[in-house]
Amino acid sequence: MKAFDNREFDFSVKDFERIRQLIYDHAGIALTDSKRELVYSRLSRRLRATGIGTFAEYLRLLESNNAAEWEAFTNSLTTNLTAFFREAHHFTLLAQQLQALGSARPIALWCSASSTGQEPYSMAMTAIDAFSSFSPPVTIIASDIDTQVLETAKKGVYALDQVEKLEPALVRRFFLKGTNQHSGMVRIRPEVQRLVTFRQVNLLDARWPIQGGLDAIFCRNVMIYFDKDTQLKILRNMAPLLNHKGLLYAGHSENFYHARGYFKLRGRTVYELDPAFLAQPKHPLRTT
Ligand SMILES: C[S@@+](CC[C@H](N)C(=O)[O-])C[C@H]1O[C@@H](n2cnc3c(N)ncnc32)[C@H](O)[C@@H]1O
Repeated sequence: MKAFDNREFDFSVKDFERIRQLIYDHAGIALTDSKRELVYSRLSRRLRATGIGTFAEYLRLLESNNAAEWEAFTNSLTTNLTAFFREAHHFTLLAQQLQALGSARPIALWCSASSTGQEPYSMAMTAIDAFSSFSPPVTIIASDIDTQVLETAKKGVYALDQVEKLEPALVRRFFLKGTNQHSGMVRIRPEVQRLVTFRQVNLLDARWPIQGGLDAIFCRNVMIYFDKDTQLKILRNMAPLLNHKGLLYAGHSENFYHARGYFKLRGRTVYELDPAFLAQPKHPLRTT
């Protein structure tokens, strides 16, 4: 029986519940009831692309562990909204943090939900400005679960309107403007791109291919898709990766109060390691 009329594909409440469970188990994304239409519209494209006639059959394909379809399924259900220098105050603080660290040793940053790349490239531009050098002692690992956004991020090519709100001098310094068939596009300068390495990481995984000794983790506007238990699990895994003075940058509507004991608010959605965490006797970064 059809749950809604005039649909191209049958989409029952049971289908939605199953999809909801699958994406929650795989990516931690907790879809509310209000996302039902969105799910229908995004996954209808997968049904058309695979030539499958019903959601029930599509679910059978997923449940047969078809790796390529799992990737496309996950990519379809993520929300990738981002922008250059989004939440600008974080980049002011990052610049101060980098200047305070200086060039005594290499600095490592992780952007843990990098989407199409605007966020890690903004971190790289901040590092270049902070050290007044196109070769700052900074490396940035940028990751996301979504392989499609990572491909866009690696290319570093964006529509001109993405940089419209940025200062013209900054755009001239860090972007190349497209001409002829590339007009209306900008490309990140290779000197900026060089600082960023992209890789796929699912934050829900128990282990990540990310080395410790990080000075900052940007984890912005992704935790909102997870429930508190999932957030806590991720934050517990992030804490040991930070240097003892490292900072965790969160999104504007996210708070990690439930992770006290691991993280402590430093101000305006920026967290530092909780002294209680650093004092743990077995913690490798303990200060005493
Ligand atoms: C709204 S975007 C935020 C982008 C950027 N951090 C910002 O604040 O502008 C959320 C990103 O989180 C990613 N994401 C969702 N679930 C994830 C998971 N389990 N592991 C890693 N990334 C995930 C999505 O693919 C998406 O690109």
